[in-house]
Amino acid sequence: MSSTTPFDAYGRYYDLLYRDKDYVAEVAYIDGLLDRYGITGRELLEFGSGTGKHARLLAISGYRVTGVERSAEMIEQALPFPGVSYQQGDIRTVRLGRTFDAVLSLFHVMSYQTTNADVEAVFARAAEHLGAGGLFVFDVWYSPAVHAQRPAVRVKRLSGDGVEITRLAEPELYPNDNRVDVHYTIFARDTTTGAVHTLTETHPMRHFSLPELDLLAVGAGFERLRAEAFLTGDPPSEASWGLCLVLRKV
Ligand SMILES: C[S@@+](CC[C@H](N)C(=O)[O-])C[C@H]1O[C@@H](n2cnc3c(N)ncnc32)[C@H](O)[C@@H]1O
Repeated sequence: MSSTTPFDAYGRYYDLLYRDKDYVAEVAYIDGLLDRYGITGRELLEFGSGTGKHARLLAISGYRVTGVERSAEMIEQALPFPGVSYQQGDIRTVRLGRTFDAVLSLFHVMSYQTTNADVEAVFARAAEHLGAGGLFVFDVWYSPAVHAQRPAVRVKRLSGDGVEITRLAEPELYPNDNRVDVHYTIFARDTTTGAVHTLTETHPMRHFSLPELDLLAVGAGFERLRAEAFLTGDPPSEASWGLCLVLRKV
């Protein structure tokens, strides 16, 4: 199976592929950031909520979360949970007609917005769903780290839920566009029947510099409160592939 929209095919194996991702630590980190700026146990809008793993843990911490997710396959994998609701939509165009205390967008969702028009649209949608003082918290691929570390071919192997998966990730670099197209090939072998399901999907990923993000932030009516390595809180550097931004609506 071949898919042109990211996650349409990949979504089926998403939770298995990222079962080693520490969502508990990530939510503790996000909760700490929100708490620092006075947002605790309140209303959150999550852009690109995927299979809802952050949303469910945030709800356990007392937040109410509305997730907006483009991929029907990802929403299908998202388990219902008290305090969490999902709706299918595009974060470049979504208009819910209400505001939230914070907008979150986690695990490189912003990097899936590859053109200036896409990124500007998402910043504008975030601003529209916040009152003055509301926070926009997201992570992106950070250009200095991408340049220093350079994306490489990677192979990931794992098994569970009756399937053995081998995932090949082959990057194709477009340096003048701040973009890397990651071509995924997934071989999924059913451990009972031995049947192998092969799928391919390309994920175009944009990386960002801080001055570029500051320009976008100011243009959408935000001020930057923080920029740091995601999860560690270290100062941004060539070591920080994932950069976390905390913006406040002016
Ligand atoms: C790497 S996944 C992250 C999912 C989830 N936030 C997590 O941390 O597990 C990126 C998600 O962003 C969603 N996404 C990307 N661009 C989007 C858009 N323009 N509108 C809505 N969802 C989008 C994808 O469908 C995918 O579910």
